[in-house]
Amino acid sequence: MEQQLYDYGMIGLGTMGLNLLYNMCDHGYSVAGFDSDISKVENLKKSKGDYQIYGAQNIKEFLDVLKKPRAIMLLVPAGHIVDLVIEELKPLISPSDIIMDCGNSHFTDTDRRIEYLAKDNIHFMGVGVSGGESGARYGPSIMPGGSKEAYERVAPMLEAVSAKIKNEPCVTYIGRGSSGHYVKMVHNGIEYGLMQLIAECYQLLKEITGISNEELHVIFSNWNNGPLQSYLIEITSLIFTQKDDLTQNFLIDMILDSAHQKGTGKWMSQNAMDLQVPVPAIDAAVSARDLSAFKNERVSASQKLKGPVTNLFNNKNEFAKIIEQALYFSMITTFSQGISLMRLASIEYKYDLNPEEVVKIWRGGCIIRASLLENIRLVFQQNPELQNLMESGEISEKLNSSQEEVRKVIKIAVDNGIPVPGFMASLSYYDGYRKGWLPSSLLQAQRDFFGAHTYQRIDRKGNFHSQWNQKI
Ligand code: 6PG
Repeated sequence: MEQQLYDYGMIGLGTMGLNLLYNMCDHGYSVAGFDSDISKVENLKKSKGDYQIYGAQNIKEFLDVLKKPRAIMLLVPAGHIVDLVIEELKPLISPSDIIMDCGNSHFTDTDRRIEYLAKDNIHFMGVGVSGGESGARYGPSIMPGGSKEAYERVAPMLEAVSAKIKNEPCVTYIGRGSSGHYVKMVHNGIEYGLMQLIAECYQLLKEITGISNEELHVIFSNWNNGPLQSYLIEITSLIFTQKDDLTQNFLIDMILDSAHQKGTGKWMSQNAMDLQVPVPAIDAAVSARDLSAFKNERVSASQKLKGPVTNLFNNKNEFAKIIEQALYFSMITTFSQGISLMRLASIEYKYDLNPEEVVKIWRGGCIIRASLLENIRLVFQQNPELQNLMESGEISEKLNSSQEEVRKVIKIAVDNGIPVPGFMASLSYYDGYRKGWLPSSLLQAQRDFFGAHTYQRIDRKGNFHSQWNQKI
């Protein structure tokens, strides 16, 4: 009997790989799976049911059962493992085969791998996939970058498995080279920023109004029915209802307040620093996670370092309304920072990104999906060349009408000694951006004073150096 050949191959049968594989099968694709952990292959074989799935025992068998030219997806941990898998595949695969790295790889690794495999005419694509476990299973947002020719071959499958908004798939060709992984990194940076802001809302409500978890659930549910509607607000409302199996307390009260991270948010901050594009809300979110991890030091410092006496804010609903506006303001400025970085990175790396298309595929399936993204999409549809989202008439109106609330929230936080680095960074970004004059003239004067670094003038062109009053 002739060996059946399979449409796609999946290497990495962990949670994401397995769920994406079943999602592909749901849409009529046959898939061969392989994992270096053979128990995962056995598990795939056992649970395959009526799906057209093949569990391969080794790489050679896996490659032999794939239709040619092959399309191989990787869902393995980012980093060195991706290179190890490539080294295993390289001698056995053929020109025109496609490898799609669907993990969170650093975009510079993706560029290196594209170049390396292109020497053998193998297409390597960096494919950002967002949506966690259930996204992978029922429809993620997909950000594929690399060769357009390769994309066109796999596009029908990617469109089939992706999330849909108004019947439109949450996938598009992002651009050349590592653009898919770059855009996924920016997605994750924005994710860090939004999560930090939501966490700050939690601390403010909890410590200033003494609110219960049940009440927090109601507030977040209400927020999710308004302009803040988003996946992160929705899951936050649900988190406050969950009980702990071990103690019957609320689970949130049993979780250690020390945040972990795999690094994608940090990568965005690092790259933004390299490109000299300000993303302070993301920087603040990364630092806040880092600070949270110093748990023991914080506990000890809490005995020594003084703060103000907390002034309880009695009207919980009134306070929640102010915070809702402040959060809306900061969500917008966080998206503005991410999109502004993407715009400038697109020029630097020649990605030729289309901001409207990127925002469009973030409306569904991914972790940062939010109804606000439809407003943002419309802004870029009307003006694709917009330099910063905050400049748009519609968005600036939203910011103008909520900026007082974010100031109020920050004042209350400062008066009560509650850290709100995300809110502060969002507001400073806004205030810095809207100021026609900043004190950087003084920085230039200081640089010229101590290092003869020169400065430019407001009244004539050129670089100038002055003899300053050097009395010291
Ligand atoms: C997604 C997420 C995902 C990310 C996790 C954990 O889009 O589905 O961004 O890719 O890996 O959220 O990220 P951290 O461990 O860095 O918080």
